[in-house]
Amino acid sequence: MSDFAELHYEGQTYKLPVVVGTENEKALDISKLRGESGLITIDPGFKNTGSTKSAITFLDGEKGILRYRGYPIEQLAEKSSFLEVAYLIIFGELPTKAELEEWTSDITYHTLIHEDFKRILEGFPSNSHPMGVLSSLVTSLTAFYPESLDPSRSADEVRMSIVRLLAKMPTLAAWSYKNEIGQPTVYPDNNLDYGGNFLRMMFATPAEGFEVDPIVSDALNKLLILHAEHEQNCSTSTVRIVGSSHASLYASVSAGINALWGPLHGGANQAVIEMLENIKADGGDTDKYLAKAKDKDDPFRLMGFGHRVYKNFDPRARIIKKAADEVLAKLGVNDPVLDIAKRLEEAALQDPYFVERKLYPNVDFYSGIIYRALGIPTNMFTVMFAMGRLPGWIAQWREMRKNGEPIGRPRQVYTGENERHYVDVNQR
Ligand code: CMC
Repeated sequence: MSDFAELHYEGQTYKLPVVVGTENEKALDISKLRGESGLITIDPGFKNTGSTKSAITFLDGEKGILRYRGYPIEQLAEKSSFLEVAYLIIFGELPTKAELEEWTSDITYHTLIHEDFKRILEGFPSNSHPMGVLSSLVTSLTAFYPESLDPSRSADEVRMSIVRLLAKMPTLAAWSYKNEIGQPTVYPDNNLDYGGNFLRMMFATPAEGFEVDPIVSDALNKLLILHAEHEQNCSTSTVRIVGSSHASLYASVSAGINALWGPLHGGANQAVIEMLENIKADGGDTDKYLAKAKDKDDPFRLMGFGHRVYKNFDPRARIIKKAADEVLAKLGVNDPVLDIAKRLEEAALQDPYFVERKLYPNVDFYSGIIYRALGIPTNMFTVMFAMGRLPGWIAQWREMRKNGEPIGRPRQVYTGENERHYVDVNQR
């Protein structure tokens, strides 16, 4: 097997080294190409560009494989807890019993946030979308922990920032929601587990407490694990590129939250339910919306279908579909919007347009459905995704810094005007 490829251009031959990953994935190293030939490569959307080497997640979109640090997602979703998976993703190995206890205890005892956060929250109009509030609150952590801004901190100090971020994220997320609905915030309860504590801060009120339903908190645990990491997608690449300037962990993750917000990425789970509600309000005619999705002159897309890398099935969607069916059955949910989801899914899976383009329901199709069944409000769906993705963003930020990666700075092919001369405004 050759360890380089040759590029022939204008009578010259350039050797491009082949980089091979542990799963035999191969890439051409073009980092010296511009210096040698004057050529750059172009790949809008980075559809075929590796931005880094990473030891965190292996994903095979054709075979539907997803592994965190070598462990199949199916096993982790079935057997592990979110905090254990977070430890695995961030530090590379499953924790020992003692390490897991310490990790869980550290995260449990840093859930409280400074009272001044309430003044920041009060500055937001109620009705603010919780994703915007959450990203601002995460950036605000830099003001409360200014030492996190120092790029030369020790591993222990970085660990403290990581613990604080994981611990405070559910509190910040739930408080973003309480701000939106104009209710008083609820303080964390350190007797509850990660997901249960979050649910209580979301749903308890001074008038009524909140009992955490184990079915709901189990489903939440699974959802958080399934979202925990997904290699170099839009938000994760954002976290790495922001962090590559040596911006702090909190600033980098806040940027990731904003990237996740868009409807083509994490915002899809909210967009799925909004789409289903629109179809219902329009008489429930799923065929009409399938036709719209197929019409090239119509910008409508079937939200929750298709994926940049999974072209046969999304392994997370398989697990979550099963969990969604179980939760709906156990909770006895009967929701006409979910009936529309089922009809749409069945029709799209048999429709040649979707089959030929390998467009299958993705994780967001089912996560939207399950969140709705769990009583999570629609505009909190992407916040739930952000909470789940946090270990992945942290791990990628940490890996990038540990590897001493250079600042991210792509090239471009300029297509604008050639040089021209300024004309005075009165002569234009
Ligand atoms: N509905 C209708 N047509 C679609 C859809 C869809 N949801 N997705 C892709 N297509 C068509 C697209 O029009 C194109 O057709 P053609 O080849 O005739 O021009 C073809 O399928 C390929 O699409 P693409 O846009 O080149 O594919 P992509 O890899 O750039 O986009 C995607 C992937 C996820 C952005 C896209 O499938 C999409 O917009 N899906 C809906 C939004 C969504 O559910 N996003 C969540 C992604 S999963 C969560 C995450 O990891 O962020």
